[in-house]
Amino acid sequence: MAFENPKSILITGASSGIGAALAEEYAEAGVTLFLGGRDADRLEVIAEKCRAKGTQVETQVCDVTDAAAMRAWIDASDDREPLNLVIANAGIAMNATSVSGLQDVASQVFEANVTGKLNTIHPALERMAKRPWPVKDAQIAIMSSMWGHLASARSPAYVSSKASVKAYGQSLRGAVRHMGIGVTVLCPGYVRSAMLNENMASVPFLIDADKAAKIMRRAIARNKARITFPWQVRWLAMIAINLPGWLVDRLNKPYGVPRLDDDKAP
Ligand SMILES: NC(=O)c1ccc[n+]([C@@H]2O[C@H](COP(=O)([O-])OP(=O)(O)OC[C@H]3O[C@@H](n4cnc5c(N)ncnc54)[C@H](OP(=O)(O)O)[C@@H]3O)[C@@H](O)[C@H]2O)c1
Repeated sequence: MAFENPKSILITGASSGIGAALAEEYAEAGVTLFLGGRDADRLEVIAEKCRAKGTQVETQVCDVTDAAAMRAWIDASDDREPLNLVIANAGIAMNATSVSGLQDVASQVFEANVTGKLNTIHPALERMAKRPWPVKDAQIAIMSSMWGHLASARSPAYVSSKASVKAYGQSLRGAVRHMGIGVTVLCPGYVRSAMLNENMASVPFLIDADKAAKIMRRAIARNKARITFPWQVRWLAMIAINLPGWLVDRLNKPYGVPRLDDDKAP
């Protein structure tokens, strides 16, 4: 299959959690990895682990919200080794604690989770689209979440950022299919990472990042349009998106986090 053995792979958010696990999953002799993150020390630790497997690794300390820097990095990587797979993974999760904090949290989350993904996807896509059609071995993977299927009073910004990139990726797939470029949207359930440690009280169906990376690699190799996993989460998501509005409303409470504190105002 055309997408099975990418040799030149760029991953954002590779300094931690799922991105780091994906880097290690793809690391092998004959592969070049371009790994991005903001924390140079953590990024280098992951790079060294990948190099130990015989992989060529280049790291870039880069903020995904910096469009010019992202374009420069992606162009330089593609010049070095034409990119086969770009995984737009970097993201943040934040909850506001007051009504007055909602807008700032939403801006920060959308900047990292939506604009940051666009800053990753589009420079790569522009490069890929310039290759002869049908383009061989060129694919974009976009990290959404199971929350992209749901509503959550706990974190309106996070869930809507994930719904946004899910819809964007699924739509983009149809727009570039005729060029031969693949697009896969990844919707994991809870995956053990720094993000969860900081933000979550209860985490049903939790899986380890290395297991999640294997599942995502398989889906990407098959150029699946979208994968929601593990299977329990996939079924729950299928039920949830078909619930009537009144029932969604009943279930939509800020489980696991305090209510917005402005609620206490007289
Ligand atoms: N963990 C879960 O349960 C879960 C489930 C579904 C989807 N996801 C998604 O998976 C992705 C990775 O999350 P994770 O769980 O692996 O969390 P994580 O361990 O906190 O890792 C987040 C990664 O994103 C990078 N990052 C964040 N903001 C960035 C920015 N502005 N510029 C560049 N890099 C930035 C971080 O880099 P530095 O640390 O170097 O700053 C880090 O490498 C996110 O998109 C998240 O929404 C996570």
